[in-house]
Amino acid sequence: MSKTTVIAFANNKGGSGKTTTCSNVGCAMAMQGKKVLMIDGDMQMNLTISFFDEERAHEYAEQGKNIYAAVKEEKDLSDFVAETGIEGLDIVPSSSLMSAIEFDLFAKWQREFVLRKCLERVRAKGYYDYILIDAPPTLGGWVMNIMCASDFVVIPVEASPWGLFGLANMFEFCNQAKGIAPRLDVLGIAITKADERKKYFKQTLETLKEMEGVTLFENYVRVDSAVEWAQDNSKPVVAFKKSSRSAGEYIQLTKEIIENANRKKCN
Ligand SMILES: Nc1ncnc2c1ncn2[C@@H]1O[C@H](COP(=O)(O)OP(=O)(O)OP(=O)(O)O)[C@@H](O)[C@H]1O
Ligand SMILES: [Mg+2]
Repeated sequence: MSKTTVIAFANNKGGSGKTTTCSNVGCAMAMQGKKVLMIDGDMQMNLTISFFDEERAHEYAEQGKNIYAAVKEEKDLSDFVAETGIEGLDIVPSSSLMSAIEFDLFAKWQREFVLRKCLERVRAKGYYDYILIDAPPTLGGWVMNIMCASDFVVIPVEASPWGLFGLANMFEFCNQAKGIAPRLDVLGIAITKADERKKYFKQTLETLKEMEGVTLFENYVRVDSAVEWAQDNSKPVVAFKKSSRSAGEYIQLTKEIIENANRKKCN
């Protein structure tokens, strides 16, 4: 098995904390000395602008140094990597052209496996310990590509009244992906934006605990304005304000993700 572990952060529900979780888990891993590559798989480019100002992000888009150019041309992803400025943490930026990706994939041979093939050389080199992919809030051919390129999926769920809406579709989609990419495994659900004072937080927690065959990470992330301040400064909160509550929670969640992934890889 490859040394590099690929983890997708996916949920078709918008605003569930996928990008925030991907950027913070990636950064926390790098701060522990791991080599991490993040891939921004969303046309909204939110993962890209978690690290760069808009001008830099648009430069990468114009220079073709982005995931869209790599997938469209079916190129090795190594040539599309940018440094984030955080040691050990690299990124393949996104582009607004990602809006056309479904169309571009449609005519390709073995279209569910294009991203997996783009990642083959990067994995074979074994330089990265982890590759983290931030998925868009959809369930189409591109997210199927993300699933088929991954070993594990982490599903961030917002602890809100509508947070669980559509989760069954997400699991059904994961099962479909497993049908064609059997190595894929759901690592667990990560609760984000939790507010323990709210009644629905407990409801969400209980509902998720009752779901059969679903792993819920013990560490969840509570609502914290430091997350937004960090994003405003183009940094993950674990790098921007390590002393904040959410940074501590993301560091704990990252440990749990690493432990669970290691355990499952050894089985
Ligand atoms: N712990 C937190 N405390 C406060 N705000 C948060 C927290 N986590 C995320 N947010 C905010 O919630 C919003 C949605 O988060 P995020 O962009 O990570 O979700 P997403 O699932 O990637 O969204 P999309 O589906 O649009 O890609 C963002 O504005 C982010 O700043
Ligand atoms: Mg996002």
